[in-house]
Amino acid sequence: QPFRIAAIPADGIGQEVTAAGQKVLDAVAKNSDGAFAFEWTEFPWGSDYYAEHGVMMADDGLDQLRDFDAIYFGAVGWPSVPDHISLWGLRLAICQGFDQWANVRPVHFLPGITSPLRKADDTKLEWIVVRENSEGEYAGLGGRNLGARGHGGEVAVQSSLFTEVGCERIIRFAFDIARTRDRRKLSSVTKSNAQQYGMVLWDDVFKRVAKDYPDVETESVLVDAMAAKFVLKPEELSVVVASNLNADILSDLGSALAGSLGLASSANYNPERRFPSMFEPVHGSAPDIAGQGISNPIGAIASAGLMLEHFGLTAEAENLARAIRATTAAGVLPRDLGGSATTDEVTDAVIEFLKIG
Ligand code: NAI
Ligand code: MG
Repeated sequence: QPFRIAAIPADGIGQEVTAAGQKVLDAVAKNSDGAFAFEWTEFPWGSDYYAEHGVMMADDGLDQLRDFDAIYFGAVGWPSVPDHISLWGLRLAICQGFDQWANVRPVHFLPGITSPLRKADDTKLEWIVVRENSEGEYAGLGGRNLGARGHGGEVAVQSSLFTEVGCERIIRFAFDIARTRDRRKLSSVTKSNAQQYGMVLWDDVFKRVAKDYPDVETESVLVDAMAAKFVLKPEELSVVVASNLNADILSDLGSALAGSLGLASSANYNPERRFPSMFEPVHGSAPDIAGQGISNPIGAIASAGLMLEHFGLTAEAENLARAIRATTAAGVLPRDLGGSATTDEVTDAVIEFLKIG
């Protein structure tokens, strides 16, 4: 029984990097000598599909995806479609439709990569950013043209939604991860001094849930202070949990600090496993370099590694992580990391290093 994966490459370099990840997973399956296999089904959704059909995905798209073991996603967004339409029409539609409320974004140094943070070779950066992925600032609540006129112009309202259940489940999820790490520490991020309702609720839930995890060190940090801490005290962090918007911003900062946005992987989990989870690089469609074959596939390949873990293929996931480290250590680096390797060259190097276990 193969693992059935729905591939949605979507736009720009999403196409290139998902092809790379698929090639790597097929090599992982080949190396298993038939112990397991992956069956891919590709969906043509995205901004080109929108140009033809007026929608980002098929109307029954969620039904088509429902029975897959996982979704492997590229990136969505292209200058021809307003970004809020492409994002809500595809990526957020899947995240929300399948209640993928936990977004996990690991951030770590790879050998052979210079980071703005790496002052010495022994500087450590090993974080997991846990993002609330179903409500908060991206709840989609609000409206335009409300009839009210403020200062003589249009008024728009964009509200955040925080529920006790939503806060508690993501905070527990993050504590459970923190508990498995060498450094058992969880940092909770809000802006509860300025946003006095939802974020104070979050803080209250965090304090209450923390009592169930006496073995995990905790701290609550305001998001602006946390941005500074990411840069100035990277070694003091382990797992960071934050609301939808705050974690979105912090994880881009984190991946840039690790060397490049092109390195960052992520998983959108439906932890109850009622629906498929979705694995994707953190970066977008990068129209500035799309189609040139120079995009960095490591974020997408590492996301495929998170999918291996999700399937219970732990040894294979570890071997893939090792092959990625071996690739960067050998100096096979794409342009965003200061090298000159193409997407294919990086991908093929990872596949070679998979075999040298
Ligand atoms: P972006 O992540 O596409 O690009 C930002 C910068 O990083 C660009 O200079 C790009 O060349 C570089 N970059 C990103 N990934 C790279 C990789 N793998 N290898 C080498 N360089 C890489 O973000 P941007 O430019 O803000 O957005 C472009 C489009 O992507 C927009 O339509 C946006 O809405 C969409 N987007 C989609 C996301 C998703 O599908 N999850 C996430 C972020 C943006
Ligand atoms: Mg982002």
